[in-house]
Amino acid sequence: MPDPLPIAVLISGSGSNLQALIDAQARGAPSCTIEVVISDRPGVKGLERAEAAGIETRVVGWADHADRGSFTEAVCDTADEFGVEALVLAGFMRILSPAAVRRYPNAIINVHPALLPSFPGARPVPDALSHGVVLTGVTVHFVDEQMDHGPIIAQEAVPVLAGDDEASLHARIQAIEHRLLPEVVDAFCSGRVRVEGRHVTVASGTIGEDNEVGA
Ligand code: GRF
Repeated sequence: MPDPLPIAVLISGSGSNLQALIDAQARGAPSCTIEVVISDRPGVKGLERAEAAGIETRVVGWADHADRGSFTEAVCDTADEFGVEALVLAGFMRILSPAAVRRYPNAIINVHPALLPSFPGARPVPDALSHGVVLTGVTVHFVDEQMDHGPIIAQEAVPVLAGDDEASLHARIQAIEHRLLPEVVDAFCSGRVRVEGRHVTVASGTIGEDNEVGA
């Protein structure tokens, strides 16, 4: 079996997706090791979750940097100190500059709580509700130089139900995120994800409950 791929997980808040990754490892997903959790904010619950799991943590404060470029450089330098080969953005609410994509080409994965390209940006759940869609969902994708735009690795739909508010819809979306993100990270870290242009295939396996991706 190949060595596990060292990864960094980037967070900004509660870290429930980080927890899903930690739990997947605890259940014996051996394809990656989370070497460090990096937050752009101090004192968030996700940092506590990492510490409880014995994972190194670092804060790279957004407010401590003059601009997006120097923030991005600091994030990547911190990740590099741990020798990681991929970044997983799990509820990371900052946009990295294109320099990050050059340093980790096709090796930055983001989870977004909508079916991209619908509802990119910082408010996808309220945006879906106010737009009146009957289906939204979860997208796990590679990060490229544009926001919420890179090649899609996996998607799963979530219905919008009568009477949903932001909290109820987001909770249903997050339940899917917590399964889909670890599946994608495991597939990527075990070398089963191939990207050609915008098209992603996953070899010898499927991702998602309804959606078969690749062969
Ligand atoms: C997730 O729904 C993620 O998709 C979005 O922000 C939320 C973060 O949740 N970008 P958590 O910090 O993983 O609990």
